[in-house]
Order: sequence, then structure tokens, then C-alpha cells
Amino acid sequence: MTSLSIQRPDDWHVHLRDGAALASVVRFTAERFGRAIVMPNLSPAVTSVDLAAAYRKRIVASLAPGTRFDPLMTLYLTDATSPQEIALATACGFIYGVKLYPAGATTHSNAGVTDISRAYPALARMEETGMRLLVHGETPHADVDVFDRETHFIDSVLAPLVARFPKLKVVLEHITTSHAVEFVAAARPGVAATITPQHLLHNRNAIFSGGIRPHYYCLPILKRERDRQALLAAATGGNPRFFLGTDSAPHERAAKESSCGCAGMFTAHAGIELYAEVFEQAGRLDRLQSFASHFGADFYGLPRHVDTITLINEPWVPPKSYDFGNGTLVPYRGGEAIGWRLADKGIA
Ligand code: DOR
Ligand code: ZN
Repeated sequence: MTSLSIQRPDDWHVHLRDGAALASVVRFTAERFGRAIVMPNLSPAVTSVDLAAAYRKRIVASLAPGTRFDPLMTLYLTDATSPQEIALATACGFIYGVKLYPAGATTHSNAGVTDISRAYPALARMEETGMRLLVHGETPHADVDVFDRETHFIDSVLAPLVARFPKLKVVLEHITTSHAVEFVAAARPGVAATITPQHLLHNRNAIFSGGIRPHYYCLPILKRERDRQALLAAATGGNPRFFLGTDSAPHERAAKESSCGCAGMFTAHAGIELYAEVFEQAGRLDRLQSFASHFGADFYGLPRHVDTITLINEPWVPPKSYDFGNGTLVPYRGGEAIGWRLADKGIA
């Protein structure tokens, strides 16, 4: 096969940042995806409908004229999120999820939830209104090994939560373990998961290959090969509970190449191409469209796109850096070939 056309995909988990950084990266997502769930972990966090509305305007203002791209906004859940704010978010028509960051789990999570019971009033209202809960599933405690944080969270917080709120729609974001795959596959209806390209392409050896490699550091951290194999089977297995979410998370080069580097990998410049590589290697290119363009839209109750994108099976080499606000960022696979490229950029 030399080319593959699929209905336009969506990215169900992305970090677009703000200001000059936003202006540098948003086009990569908008060229490929029709919609994207935009994470709210700005500083200050997007904790209200008003803040989300203003952020959405800044995103739309930074798009090239004529771009057809719909940013789907999220609210950042805190201990203080009120049921009233949830009702407003559901009614406003542009907020599609509420993101749970356990406090201390990752970038800008300090305003996150300190104890899940504090969020019960908000979660009860979400269950009533149909608002989705998007979960960063890690227990960030010092006594829980960094490689066990997802498993610990699933067992101690998520499983009881899903039982306590039986109608709440839940997306376990960026799953990284076989345990998460098994949990989601066996869960009650209304529980789904996103999977990133880096967790499909790499195990944790990538972080330590010939030296410490900060550009392979993301959270949840890359896991074992057997976990990667479980994720591959889930992504390519045709189960509608698993769908695309890049978790593209740009950071300025110096913030990554540091004695205390930030978590996050920038993949938006090849946000669909990398999945094509994965599905090709698995011999399941026939299932790329459902994973990338159908299952997420169906879960969110949104129409599938009718237009298409075309991918060409031809290597290209991303640059070693892109401009990023006043600095630069190092893209995933910068200076190294990617097996698929996007034929049309899809801008009207
Ligand atoms: O690696 C990550 N980067 N994981 C997250 O959960 C947050 C993200 C970011 O915002 O940089
Ligand atoms: Zn993320």
C-alpha cells in the first residue's frame, strides 16, 4: 500500500498551551485533526466556564484563517469545583469534559484534587448531566513506585469511583499498563481510555538508551515491554473503548534538558502519522480509521467527520527543533525518519 485515506481523525487528549507557545503549536494539531480535547492545565488552571470560554477564543484566534478545527474545551477539577459550575459547563455547549489531576501528579497539577471524596458533589452532578470525567490516573505518593502509580490509582481510586457513580462517563487518559487495559476492557459501560503514540512505540528502555533521554520522559512514564504489547493489542484490537489521544505536551527545550526536566513529549507534528506506523507494524492498518476517527467521536456523542485525510507511506524527517514561543522545542523523532506522511493538510 502506498497511500491510505481515512475519515478525518480527532485527538481526544492534547496540550495546546497558551500565548506565543499556543500560536507555535496549534497548527500541527489543526492540520490533522478535526477536533481535539484541550487539556486545562494552564497556570492558572482553567477552573471555570468563563476561563474556558476565554481560552477557547485565544485558541480560535491563533488558527490560520480558514482552518476548520474545533477545540473541545475541558474544566480543571479542584477540591472546590461546585455542582453549579458543572451545570454551567454542561449547558454552555463547548465544554466536553472535566479533568481530574490528583494534586502533585504532573505538570501544573498543584491545584488538583487532594482527596477524591472532596470532589463527590461535582462528580454527582456530572453523573446527572452526562458530563465526562477525564482522568490522569496516577497516585503521586512518595511511597508508591513511579512505575506502579497507574496500577495503584486504578485499584485504590478509580475502581471504587466507577462503582460509586455507576452512570458517570469516564475516560482513563493515556493508559500505560496491561493492568489499565484489562481494567478498561472489563469495566461497566461508559468507561473508555485514550492511548498515546509514545506508549505504543516505546518501552521504558527508551528513557535510558545510552544515557538519560529527557525527551522520552512523560507522565505516566513509559512502562515495560509487556505493557506496550498489551497497549498495542488494545489499540489495534477493534474495541471501541480504546481510542486516539496523543497527549502531545510541548515544553521549551531548556525546560526538558535540565537537572529537573518537565514531563511531556511533543508529537503533534506527526500526530496521526505515528499511529499509522504503529498500525502498519501490527498489520492492522485496516483498523486505524476506527481507532482514530470513529470510537472517540462515538464515545463523546459527536458525529464522525465526513471529510478525509490521506496518509502516504513515504518516509520524511521532522526537523530537530521547532520554534516555540520565544524559544524552541525538540519534537519526537526530530532528525529521524517517520514512515508515513500527511498528503493534504486539510485547510479549507
Ligand atoms: O507528560 C505529561 N505532560 N503528562 C501530563 O500529564 C502533563 C503533560 C504536560 O502538561 O506537560
Ligand atoms: Zn496530558
